[in-house]
Amino acid sequence: MAATRSDALVFFGATGDLAYKKIFPALQAMVKRGHLDVPVVGVAKAGWTAEQFRARVKDSLEKHGGIDPPAFDHLLRLLRYVDGDYADVATFRALREQLGNASTPSHYLAIPPVLFGKVIQQLGATGSAAGARAIVEKPFGTDLTSARKLNQIILSVFDESSVFRIDHYLGKKAVNGMLLFRFANTLTEPLWNRNYVDSIQITAAEDFGIQGRGSFYDATGALRDVIQNHLFQVLCSVAMEPPVGLDSESIRDERVKVLKAIRSIQPQDLVRGQFRGYRNEPGVAPASEVETFAAVRLFIDSWRWKGVPVYLRTGKSLPVTCTELVLRMRRPPSMFDDAELARNSIRIRIAPEITLATGVNVPAVNDDSPTQIEIVASHQPQKGEMEAYERVLGDAIAGDASLFARQDFVEEAWRIVQPILDEPPPLQEYEPGTWGPVNERLTPPGGWQNPVVKR
Ligand code: BG6
Repeated sequence: MAATRSDALVFFGATGDLAYKKIFPALQAMVKRGHLDVPVVGVAKAGWTAEQFRARVKDSLEKHGGIDPPAFDHLLRLLRYVDGDYADVATFRALREQLGNASTPSHYLAIPPVLFGKVIQQLGATGSAAGARAIVEKPFGTDLTSARKLNQIILSVFDESSVFRIDHYLGKKAVNGMLLFRFANTLTEPLWNRNYVDSIQITAAEDFGIQGRGSFYDATGALRDVIQNHLFQVLCSVAMEPPVGLDSESIRDERVKVLKAIRSIQPQDLVRGQFRGYRNEPGVAPASEVETFAAVRLFIDSWRWKGVPVYLRTGKSLPVTCTELVLRMRRPPSMFDDAELARNSIRIRIAPEITLATGVNVPAVNDDSPTQIEIVASHQPQKGEMEAYERVLGDAIAGDASLFARQDFVEEAWRIVQPILDEPPPLQEYEPGTWGPVNERLTPPGGWQNPVVKR
C-alpha cells in the first residue's frame, strides 16, 4: 500500500545553522522539481517576524546554491513562520492554527536532542501528533542509554512507522546506489564476500576544522559525529545481504543485521587524534580531550564477512575533503611472482564526485612486466542533481522510510561503540593538514589508501 503523503511540513530550528545551510536549499530544489507543494511552517525562538524569516531564507539561498526565481517565489508562498518558546504551549497552539486543515503533517526536529522531549510532548498534548510523522536529526542520543531514553520519549507519542531518523549519508547518490551496484552486476556480486575480499577500508576526510561549531563539536567528537552514524550506514550498504524486496522494512532488516554481527569495539581497536590548535577554537574547552580524528578496526561475524577486517576513519583538518571506500581483494593462485603483483581493488568514491575504480594487473607498455592500472569511471555532480537533504526530506514527506535509521539500528550502533566511549584510549595530537596519528596495528593490510582529490 502506498504511504500517505504529508500535507504540511513543519520544521523546528528554522533559524538555525542546519536550516540555513541545508534545509532551505533542499526546500527550493524540491519546489523546483515539483516535489513540494504543501504549507511549510518554520518554528523557532528568535524573536523574529515572518518578514525577517523570509529575509533569512533569501540569504540562505543566495549563499548556498543560488536563487531560482520561480521556485523561490513559490516557496515563499508556501512558507509560514511561528516564533515562540518550545516550552510554551502557546507556540504549539499558534502552530496548530498555521496548520489549518492539515491532517498528516511531518514535524521535522532540526534541533538539539535535549529539546526533542519538550517538542514531542507538546505536539502530542496539542493534537498535532495524530496522523503525523516525526523527522529527527542526528545525533540521535549521545550513548546507548540516552538513545534508548530518546526512543522512549518519541515512541510515547509517535508510532515507530511514523518516525524518520535522518542520516543524510543515506541520501547520497553513491550510498543509495550501492545495492544496485552490488547486486545488479555479475562482475561484482559473486566477489563481494570473504572468499575474495581481504579487507575493507572507509575514509571520510575533511580538510576543514570545526567551522564555528565549537560547543557542539566539543560535546560530540568524531566517533559520535561521523563513525557511529554516517560511516556505519555506509558500511551497512557495503556489507548487507540482498534484501528479499525493495520495500523499506526488508532493506532496513538487512542493514541492522550487519550491525548485530559486529562485535563491540574495544579501546585497543581505536585511534583518537586531535588537531593542533583545536583547543583554541571558540566554544572548545582549553583542556579538551575530545577527538577530531578517529580510526577504528572492527569485525563482522557473519557468514559473508567473518575474518575480513574493516577499518573506518574520519577526521577534521585532514589533507582533503573526500569520502571513499576500498575493498582490497585476495590474490588469485598464479604462476607469476607474487611480489611483482599488486592486489586487485575496488574503490568507490562517494564524494565530492562519484567514482568507481578497479585496480588490476596488466602487462607494462614497454616490457610486459606486471604493472597495476586503475580502470576508472567518474561522475561529477551536475547542477540540478538531487542532493542528500533533498532526497531524504522528499522521502520522509512521501512516507518512504528506506533511507532512515530504525530504532533497532540506532541502538545497535551505540552498543558497538559504547566500550570505546566508556574507556577511550589516550588522545594523540596531529598537525592540521596531515592524515592524523599513525598506529601500525590499526593500519589496514597494504596501508591506508589516502584519497587524492583534484583541485
Ligand atoms: C555532519 C557532521 O553530520 O556531517 C559534520 O555533523 C560533517 O561534522 C558533515 O562535516 C559531513 O557531511 P557532508 O555531507 O558534508 O559530507
